[in-house]
Amino acid sequence: MSLPKSMRKSFMDEELQDKICVVIGTRPGIIKQAPIIEALKELKADFFVLHTGQHYSYNMDKVFFEDLGLPEPEYKIPDTYKYKLHGEQTAKMLMEIERILIRERPKIVVVTGDANTNLAGALAAKKLHMRVAHTESGLRTFDWRVPEEHNRLIIERLGDYLFAPNELARKNLEIDNVGGEIFVVGSTLVDALEKVKNVATRKSTILEELGLNRNEYFLMTMHREENLDYEREIRSIIKGVLEVTRRFGFPIVFPAHPRTIKRLKELGLYKVLDKHKNVLIMPAVGYMDFMALLSNARLVLTDSGGVQQEACILRVPCITLLRATEWVETLLVGANVLVGSDPMAIVKGVELMLASRRNWPNPFGERGVGKRIVKILLDRLHEPIEQVYERYRARRKKVEKYLSLGNWEKVLKALREETSSKASQAEMRCLE
Ligand code: UD1
Ligand code: UDP
Repeated sequence: MSLPKSMRKSFMDEELQDKICVVIGTRPGIIKQAPIIEALKELKADFFVLHTGQHYSYNMDKVFFEDLGLPEPEYKIPDTYKYKLHGEQTAKMLMEIERILIRERPKIVVVTGDANTNLAGALAAKKLHMRVAHTESGLRTFDWRVPEEHNRLIIERLGDYLFAPNELARKNLEIDNVGGEIFVVGSTLVDALEKVKNVATRKSTILEELGLNRNEYFLMTMHREENLDYEREIRSIIKGVLEVTRRFGFPIVFPAHPRTIKRLKELGLYKVLDKHKNVLIMPAVGYMDFMALLSNARLVLTDSGGVQQEACILRVPCITLLRATEWVETLLVGANVLVGSDPMAIVKGVELMLASRRNWPNPFGERGVGKRIVKILLDRLHEPIEQVYERYRARRKKVEKYLSLGNWEKVLKALREETSSKASQAEMRCLE
């Protein structure tokens, strides 16, 4: 007999509503979920938006609702900004999201990408036995220092519906033997960008305000933990960027994340950039202004995942200030180079990309990604939960040959034999 509802910590499937929850909380999350919210509205789905409050400054949050024409979220978690460490920030969001999900009882919770917001959303949902949908699934840096890598791997493990931007991302998911259903749909950024790009070129006056001519400036963004938390990395990147302006003569426009401004000020570097005649450093700008800046830039230097994708789609050459990127396809099509933080590597990267022909293919799919995802979600709202569980159970296949041996001694023998034959193969290879 099941425990009464009031004593259980999770729901039975029939207690959930045919409703979808969209989780947002950071600048890129708001942008990437916008096409999904729009499609849910258009297809008259029952849904609500839950904002975790991870990002909260006007220029990191509200401005994107204005620029993308999004309604106020139904729920907004207060005071998240007080929690700074990864653990406490994620824990605060997890606790609050759980409360909201218990009240609303949606059947599917949609998270996107790899920020702490999305890890908290996926974990809260799964513990309540809700289905987790993850967009931008299957990305890898293979850099185990990167906080986003930890998040995305856990989210994918929890995900029931995994929306990959392309076949490469699908392959990563398959290699990791994830238990969710995989769909290759393209990137929602294709839709977001398409919606704002044309309006931006008409409405944004940022180029005039900054006195910039099309194709005659470089754009820059930087905010990643693996750069900002290490003084040596920051100093090295800034040195490289100043060398780039000296050698190539283009002004550099640098809309900076609040975290970056704070860190540059702590290290006395903000003053240096602010006083430099060829660097325009300023607080981060809204999506409309950023699209106007990016689509007219001669080239972009960045450590942002979203900007690497957008530059590739808009055919703006990109220099990535990281040691590893999750957007390997941008390197493969020739839209991007990975330079890390070494000043001379940055200069060489710029030189290389200035010569690029800007005719690479777009590896992120065709417009209509939001709608494709929502149609699948609406269909899966009616999928029997047993089918979801069966897909997860299928991961067992890889150990089934041992389990079928029936008793522990036989299993142990088979595993030992396999290990020793692998070890002797490795020894043979060493001797060859
Ligand atoms: C987070 C994501 C990162 C994503 C980035 C998008 C994680 C682990 N990282 O990093 O993947 O690329 O968002 O921008 O989730 N701050 C403000 N105002 C804001 C937001 C942040 O002042 O609206 C400052 C605060 O000092 C805050 C710091 O920036 O402590 C860092 O913010 P946080 O959300 O923890 O990480 P991000 O660097 O933004
Ligand atoms: N962006 C913006 N204004 C800025 C810098 C970036 O609107 O000043 C947008 C950019 O177009 C992209 C998204 O923010 O869509 C990327 O977010 P961010 O770099 O913060 O995070 P990441 O993509 O690295 O997770």
